[in-house]
Amino acid sequence: MATDKSKVARRYDRWSGLYDFIDTFPGFGRAEKRWRREAIDMLDLQPGDRVLDVGTGTGLIVPWIADKLDSGKVIGTDISEKMLERARERVEKLSLSSKAEFVKDDAEAMMFPDASFDKVIATYTLTTIPDPAAMMKEIHRVLKPGGILVLLDTGPPTETKGNTLYYWMKFTARLFGYTDISRDPYKILAEAPPLTKCEERRYYATTVYLMSLKKAGA
Ligand SMILES: C[S@@+](CC[C@H](N)C(=O)[O-])C[C@H]1O[C@@H](n2cnc3c(N)ncnc32)[C@H](O)[C@@H]1O
Repeated sequence: MATDKSKVARRYDRWSGLYDFIDTFPGFGRAEKRWRREAIDMLDLQPGDRVLDVGTGTGLIVPWIADKLDSGKVIGTDISEKMLERARERVEKLSLSSKAEFVKDDAEAMMFPDASFDKVIATYTLTTIPDPAAMMKEIHRVLKPGGILVLLDTGPPTETKGNTLYYWMKFTARLFGYTDISRDPYKILAEAPPLTKCEERRYYATTVYLMSLKKAGA
């Protein structure tokens, strides 16, 4: 069931003050940080890279990306102005504003020209965005040939050991973030413009996936 975009933005506006608490939550928070770090490693950042963080939220991963960029830029986008405010505060405090920028933008209809990013990352956005197919189309469009996409998200487990955790997560994710973790990433990718999967890792009884994918070309 798709959720209205403005409803999603309002929900995240309301949650913006509490959002980072999840990242420091004992147990899950520590694992979360590790997965995010691994996701950034998968980007294989190179000097001069232009990186897009789609649905950046409070920009949790942006300073880590900026830190690894010798030159180049990371741009975080979101439809929630309040989440973006938090993100801007974060990079300003860390004096990283020259390497990181945030803009309000709809991931289903991006403002960027074709082939404008070397790398794209989306952490927990594919399951939140009302139209994931539109987002995948846009990501493919803005990625340069040979560009890399990294997805970190939650989804149906690939092993039965994850079933109990999955049903609990599915309920809470829907309640708090209009997030639909029943979306099958393989189905979404199969129906999206072609990207070649380079690597996939699973965590949390296989309910969390991390994938890197490459656009054909250069
Ligand atoms: C679960 S949060 C993830 C935030 C961040 N990527 C992270 O890992 O903490 C999902 C984010 O996607 C944003 N979002 C939802 N629909 C969007 C859209 N159409 N365009 C841009 N951002 C969107 C929400 O506002 C929210 O900040």
